[in-house]
Amino acid sequence: MAKTLQSYSVGLIIRQKEPTNLETPLDQVDSYLTPTELFYIRRHFPAPKLDLASYQLRIDGAVRNPFSLSYKQLRDMPSETRVATLECAGNSRVFLIPQVAGAQWELGAVSNAEWTGMPLGALLERAGLEEDACEIVLEGADRGTPTEAPVPPGPISYARSVPRDKAMQREVLIAYQMNGRDLPLDHGYPVRAIVPGHYGMASVKWLTHVHAVREPFRGYWQTSDYGYWDYLEGKPVRRALGEMQLKSEIARPRVYETLPPSRIYPVFGAAWAGETDVIEIAVSTDGGKTWSEAQFLDPVRRYAWRRWKFDWLTPRKPGQYTLLARAKDAGGALQPDEHDRNYGTYVINHSLPIEVFVHDAKDRQS
Ligand code: MTE
Repeated sequence: MAKTLQSYSVGLIIRQKEPTNLETPLDQVDSYLTPTELFYIRRHFPAPKLDLASYQLRIDGAVRNPFSLSYKQLRDMPSETRVATLECAGNSRVFLIPQVAGAQWELGAVSNAEWTGMPLGALLERAGLEEDACEIVLEGADRGTPTEAPVPPGPISYARSVPRDKAMQREVLIAYQMNGRDLPLDHGYPVRAIVPGHYGMASVKWLTHVHAVREPFRGYWQTSDYGYWDYLEGKPVRRALGEMQLKSEIARPRVYETLPPSRIYPVFGAAWAGETDVIEIAVSTDGGKTWSEAQFLDPVRRYAWRRWKFDWLTPRKPGQYTLLARAKDAGGALQPDEHDRNYGTYVINHSLPIEVFVHDAKDRQS
């Protein structure tokens, strides 16, 4: 009974009302799998309502045998279940100084769930993917005209491509279940792509079309939006965002939380990476001067986050303290100290400062 009450006392945080963009209250979520009702929601247009009876997933383009599948046919195919963390590429944008345009996500445009569906690669094999196909475009049924310049000439549907090699990996799913239940509308009902290890924008919801192409796809969410500056022979070039970058976040304490002095406070957070594993977490409680190792609560599982905790003996001295967490990956790379400006308003994966106060309860009342 108490459990039921508790699960209804928490909800998502509004970042934008329409289209619906809601954030996970990360400090309230203890579980490894984020409960579906607390999984963040990110969308560009209103959610399309697809009718199961007439639903078709079309696979065509650079394939020898294009075909369509009904929802029933899709569900009858051999399925796999995998855990994957999705993070929106704009997660933690509110930490950028000076402030930038876009939804002011705090820490909760990231969640972890179990997804069930069939591997995209199995569909592409059946369709006879041509040798020269270089990318797979995934298209959703939602349409509209984006508001950020350069604005396309008319309404477009949400579409993103996945490089061929990634699309053929077993972990990329055409999913119809989330945490053991049919996908809710907000998360792509009836069918969505799950591209583990890539930022969330690759996991196209309300999926109706899988299109193999022979040239890199240059659509809106590949170029105008979700792009970054890379360097080619010393010259800056625009590329599409893909793989998630190494990151850890402190979920508890929250920014400006007041903690009692001389007590053990369990600092709690989660860490994840793209095509590698997180193997170490260090926590600093003095703004980065000294670091201590935290303990993982979850084992290594590629594409899924690892929760961690660190028991902090809070200082006797009242005052303001800055907490930081820093992840290390299997290749020895550390989470950066600063945001890389080449990513613009995306990929905010540097160690994020969480300022807290240490005060006695009696001081706090005065
Ligand atoms: N798919 C469609 N069709 N339309 C969208 O607007 N948003 C993308 C992706 N898939 C989007 C989409 C983005 S930016 C993210 S971060 C993830 O969905 C979020 O998935 P979620 O809402 O299930 O958390």
